[in-house]
Amino acid sequence: MSMKQLKKAARIILIGAPGVGKGTQSERLLARFPQLASISSGDLLRENVRRRTPLGVQAEAAMQSGNLVPDSMILDLISSELKSKGWLPPSQSSTMPSISSSASFILDGFPRTAAQASSLDKFVPVNFVVHLLTPPSVILSRIASRWVHEPSGRVYNTEFNTPKVPGKDDVTGEPLTQREDDSIETWTQRLRKFEETSRALLEHYDRRGCLWRVEGNTSDEISPKLFAEIEQRFC
Ligand SMILES: *[C@@H]1O[C@H](CO)[C@@H](O)[C@H](O)[C@H]1NC(C)=O
Repeated sequence: MSMKQLKKAARIILIGAPGVGKGTQSERLLARFPQLASISSGDLLRENVRRRTPLGVQAEAAMQSGNLVPDSMILDLISSELKSKGWLPPSQSSTMPSISSSASFILDGFPRTAAQASSLDKFVPVNFVVHLLTPPSVILSRIASRWVHEPSGRVYNTEFNTPKVPGKDDVTGEPLTQREDDSIETWTQRLRKFEETSRALLEHYDRRGCLWRVEGNTSDEISPKLFAEIEQRFC
């Protein structure tokens, strides 16, 4: 796959239902546009807990007492990551610090709500928000055709990655099963919940004029459209 150079800073967020292949698109974008960094709130959190930074210690305390890590803490993690990359000025004095024009990244895991997006707007002007759309029926049928070999974790799909012998693991010949978590009821609920919770977030970015929708039944159908749009906007 050829790599492309960004001429303008791209500050990207991907929004999509579970099962739509956000992780896949994100990996492909990082490979195609090497200037893009990945800033994952989950990774930052784990990293800070592991290194026992002041923020990590605070966040761990919140989690251990059964609470969610407060938004303000996640925002601090993101801003300190941007500062450590030299993308935000070190001082907190300015009310509206300006982000470096060379800061290009995909922000992963945050924001999930419109309120979080508003807080983020104060120091990270996201300029491209991608809404990945795959019909729920297509996601559900993909899930329904997923089979696993429990002992090894090998995953098959009866639509596009079939085992050599139906119902049997290729290596051991042992029977394949379906995950409890992969039941259609669970996934239907998961998709419905995403639709509810993402609505205000999508509206937030739509109002800001940086929301772009892309549809496809598979990741391979979506990627070329996504690449073309980024190249048109930023290359
Ligand atoms: C995507 O899936 C839907 C529902 O199964 C189908 O109607 C449509 O033709 C598919 N689109 C493509 C491009 O394959």
